[in-house]
Amino acid sequence: MKISPHRSLLKWYQLNGRHDLPWRTTDNPYHIYLSEIMLQQTQVKTVLERFYFPFLEAFPTLADVAASELDDVLKKWEGLGYYTRARNLHHAARQCGGNLPNNAHDLIQLSGVGRSTAHAIAAFAYKEALPILDANVKRILHRYFALTARNEKKLWEYAYILFDPHHPFEYNQAMMDIGATVCLSKKPLCTLCPLEHTCQGKSDPLSYPEAKIPKIKPIRQCSIILHQREKRYALQQRSGRFLHGLWGFSEVETKVIHGEYLGHITQHYSHFTLEAEVYQSDEELMDETFEWFLLSEIASLSLSRADHKAIELLRYNLKKEGDRDAKIH
Ligand code: ADE
Repeated sequence: MKISPHRSLLKWYQLNGRHDLPWRTTDNPYHIYLSEIMLQQTQVKTVLERFYFPFLEAFPTLADVAASELDDVLKKWEGLGYYTRARNLHHAARQCGGNLPNNAHDLIQLSGVGRSTAHAIAAFAYKEALPILDANVKRILHRYFALTARNEKKLWEYAYILFDPHHPFEYNQAMMDIGATVCLSKKPLCTLCPLEHTCQGKSDPLSYPEAKIPKIKPIRQCSIILHQREKRYALQQRSGRFLHGLWGFSEVETKVIHGEYLGHITQHYSHFTLEAEVYQSDEELMDETFEWFLLSEIASLSLSRADHKAIELLRYNLKKEGDRDAKIH
């Protein structure tokens, strides 16, 4: 007799689930919402060790997020990447006046909350009977139902077919844990999986779903210029879509710059790789949208990873110059 996948899943979760994750031991909807947003593109370990608690300390309630300046929210998000999440969080907090809606239908109206995230928050915070469909769950469903083609609409149908509406919290958390620890993309551990006996893809899990055609990431080359006058450096708050709201040094597409060469940096973004030569320059900067900051003041601004690397190069060069001057005098 085959054991039902729901019973098997529940039992597995009781024994193997990551029960002590802090967003699983709370029913505070804001805490759960924050975790879901942070976990959209970041691993549990990073969120847990470096971002989740400091953010909650700075903004204990969603009303605190709503009342804050975007800059302050971005500052707490610094290093976590994918800053659109922070801008959406700030916007969403204001959209709902600091009171998170109590059902998936209304949650989905908020900036940055897609269907799966709305279902996750509703299932975890309000025990609404809805399945989630994040990347891990997609992989499980592809294998479980032996589906090769990637089709999001169809996958939602399968998500409802496998779903256990009587245990939305445990079912969804278990699916996330199985995706993260058992149904691994390259090395699935089928013998440890509670869905093993009913999984249709078990004999050849790696063929579900079909492989993606790898996208070649374009390389963007530029020069980052640290314009300097009287120990202050010029930074501008970014206004375009990319890294919007973060502060940044001057960037130009050309390579030849009159200034002191500080070094090279590489930064991988989701859609391209940045290869930049970094210079310091004391040439006049005519653009009035730049503001001037001491190095100590820059520490309180939110910068992109690339600009942080540029500062590291600057500090390294300043130190080298300092050491050299000390030797001469
Ligand atoms: N990723 C997204 N939501 C999660 C959760 N509740 N637990 C672990 N990983 C997750």
